[in-house]
Amino acid sequence: MRCRKEEELVELVRRNKNYIKDGKVADYIPALAKADPDKLAIAIYSKEEGCLSAGDVGELFTLQSISKVLTLALAIMDVGKEQVFSRVGMEPTGDPFNSIAKLETMVPSKPLNPMINAGALVVTNMIHGSSVEEKVGRILQLIHDMTNNPTIGINDEVADSEYESANLNRALSYFMKQHGIIDDDVEMLLEAYTKQCAIEVNCKDLARIGMVLANEGKDPETDRPIIPRYIARIVKTFMVTCGMYNASGEFAINVAIPAKSGVSGGILSLVPNEMGIGVYSPPLDQKGNSLAGNKLLENLSAQYELSIF
Ligand code: DON
Repeated sequence: MRCRKEEELVELVRRNKNYIKDGKVADYIPALAKADPDKLAIAIYSKEEGCLSAGDVGELFTLQSISKVLTLALAIMDVGKEQVFSRVGMEPTGDPFNSIAKLETMVPSKPLNPMINAGALVVTNMIHGSSVEEKVGRILQLIHDMTNNPTIGINDEVADSEYESANLNRALSYFMKQHGIIDDDVEMLLEAYTKQCAIEVNCKDLARIGMVLANEGKDPETDRPIIPRYIARIVKTFMVTCGMYNASGEFAINVAIPAKSGVSGGILSLVPNEMGIGVYSPPLDQKGNSLAGNKLLENLSAQYELSIF
């Protein structure tokens, strides 16, 4: 692996801490506003070195939109690629993650991709399970398999806080139900979606998830298949084209590796066949991506020439 020394990561964290003050912690989900803005952490996971980390790596945070990568993989495993992409598109939007605008103007009326909220709601609707508990239990099982950490669970305070304030996601869901894109009961769908977003991890867990995707869907220690290779490739491609929302183009140029952000300040990233990366820092830029996290990844990529292009 290109980075072999933890001290190099410690130095990268030190250099990027300054950017924290330029961002703003998300508060449209009230419980997220309680995050300590001063945190910055990175973990990288490779087959040879295992996990190297620096900064506030013990800090727990919720997956938020990072969960969309994992639910997409699970939905394709459950119902197949054809069925999933009959209801959600494959194109970047150029709009914010929670935008409703294109839903009405697109023909046929389906969300542009599975990384925006509308698309992710459709994806969660397709995951097998006859109850919220069963669906969320299956998402958690996938995450336990990818992280090898069976203690990962849901932050109920964050889940409840989002469920109570998710009026925009409610509006998106009712609109899509009216147009036959989703068939679940809307409140049950929102409960499952807000719980998947509230799954709580640390940076090391994210790095191991990234490593499984980097390793073509196989466990990095045992090579046991967790996600079929073609599905791991689909989700990594979405990470490149849509993972940082309407900043995905800029990120592809400046950082040049697959990544998916969440409004809690986490970023899941990876270098194919080489390493998984987890980053955390709660203050966000205007597009909802971790500001210092983004800069840290940019520096990491430049320092070790990680570009996949
Ligand atoms: O649905 C929402 O708005 C949140 N649960 C997730 C949004 C999110 O993480 C966007 N990411 N940067």
